[in-house]
Amino acid sequence: MDTVVDEGLAIKFATERDSSYARWVASEGLDIISGHYVADLRAIELKPWSRRGGRGVFINHDASRTSNDCYVCEIPPAGGLAPQRQLFEEMILVLDGRGSTRVWNDAGRQVSFEWQAGSIFAIPLNASYELVNLSGVEPARFVSSTNLPPVMNLYDDVDFIFNTSRDFPERFSGEADYFAPKQETKGLLLDTNFVTDAVELPLLSAKERGAGGGHVRFSMAKGSMNSHISEFPVGTYKKAHRHGPGAHVIILSGQGYSLMWSEGDEPQRYEWGPGSLIIPPNMWFHQHFNVGDTPARYLAFKHEGVAIRNSQGVPKSWISRRIGGDQVDYADEVPYIRETFAEALAKVGLEPAMDASYEAELADLPPR
Ligand SMILES: [Fe+2]
Repeated sequence: MDTVVDEGLAIKFATERDSSYARWVASEGLDIISGHYVADLRAIELKPWSRRGGRGVFINHDASRTSNDCYVCEIPPAGGLAPQRQLFEEMILVLDGRGSTRVWNDAGRQVSFEWQAGSIFAIPLNASYELVNLSGVEPARFVSSTNLPPVMNLYDDVDFIFNTSRDFPERFSGEADYFAPKQETKGLLLDTNFVTDAVELPLLSAKERGAGGGHVRFSMAKGSMNSHISEFPVGTYKKAHRHGPGAHVIILSGQGYSLMWSEGDEPQRYEWGPGSLIIPPNMWFHQHFNVGDTPARYLAFKHEGVAIRNSQGVPKSWISRRIGGDQVDYADEVPYIRETFAEALAKVGLEPAMDASYEAELADLPPR
């Protein structure tokens, strides 16, 4: 529950809400949208970002300002962003348009690749890079997650973070196929630095999260940030779970809604479609519901600042609450969950298709 205290105590901590990171965003001339939800990243308003030569806006709330951030940026038609290098990691999902990226190191090796709406890629640590819009008519827009907040809060030195000559050859040394789309998987991890189209990418089966879902995980550019894509079928919803801050969930396809709540509070409802962004606050339960007539698919940019895992390394958000984890089994849901889901589907002439998932769960459900 969000416990509110008296103003006197709040004032004593007011200065600690400011940070080097928040001051840096302001110095770039950009706003921070402070919230848990954006209905459509393709439609949000952007401001000129003169240093980069595009337009942008940052999106994050208190918790993610110290873990990983999120911003949306637009590249003008027939234009490009100013070349940049950075001592932090970045993952990009292209929302609209098409373009190309050139990446190079101080040793003089360079690689270029082209992208389109739905492409995902990461910028290797401290490699120089340049993003160019290949359309002369339409802007190109992308959403990005970075771990700049802890880096800026630690060093508080813009010149150091953006202007240090240092290659990290273990991360990137100009390999010709570095950004070629690859198919090899290791467990649930797809070992690639580039996805051509996240909407069409084949997924792996992951029944642990409920409802016959597809799943694939990424750890691109040998970075510490990770991400995953999940998909769930028509008439289904995923199990509720909770974890630390920093997950940025971007809807790739389908229609539905999410519920989010802090333990003990009423769930809040957020409607979504392609381009919606949901940012579950620290340790809030969240649950995603498909109410469209196609499978629903999302991409989650993640950052694990504090590992909430069991002794075997399994995220507690994948483990039943019945044995101390942070995932709510279907069998333990409050009636509200199923009632509101059935109502939402009825409005579009559909019915829940959850019986098989409820049944399947019982096979390995720990006793209460
Ligand atoms: Fe989650």
